[in-house]
Amino acid sequence: MVESPLQSFIDTCRACADRHPEPADAVSAIAPHMHALLETAGSFLKPEHLRADPAHYARNAIYIAPDSSLSLFAIVWTPGQWTPIHDHGSWGVVGVLRGILHERSFIRTDVDRGRDEDIDLHRGGVLLLTPGTVTSFVPNPDHIHITGVPEDAPPVVSLHLYGRNMDSFHIYDVATRSRQRVNVEHNES
Ligand SMILES: [Fe+2]
Repeated sequence: MVESPLQSFIDTCRACADRHPEPADAVSAIAPHMHALLETAGSFLKPEHLRADPAHYARNAIYIAPDSSLSLFAIVWTPGQWTPIHDHGSWGVVGVLRGILHERSFIRTDVDRGRDEDIDLHRGGVLLLTPGTVTSFVPNPDHIHITGVPEDAPPVVSLHLYGRNMDSFHIYDVATRSRQRVNVEHNES
């Protein structure tokens, strides 16, 4: 039996992660496969993966490994929907399928990056991630950003692979210079 593009991608990512314990090496190895996956997304994405939610961006699970070592989500962003400022606690590889995903970076400059208070966070640059773009991040130091879609822009669909079950992350409050760990919800497929 011929393996589906999705199963092949998952198997390849697991092999890459096993072969490359250094996260920067893992995302470098996986990024081309995410780029190729975008080409075949029409063959495996189901209507439930493309669900939007008027209240917030919608995280639709495509695959969550039984051992929580990998997870893949289709995220659907309607105009005006943004994440909070967050990190990931994991490596990740993101591919944009439709629309232009805006990413605004933040740079943390205090030395003790494990601290939840007295955080020095500075606004960084912006990236406009167009269809076919693949981007990635690694932990320690973690990438801190917000992503989303402006009010006047078309909706976005993006694929997000993480090196863990991405069910929680830190969100940052610039005004109080603090962060807290919160659970993040997703739709099952
Ligand atoms: Fe993120």
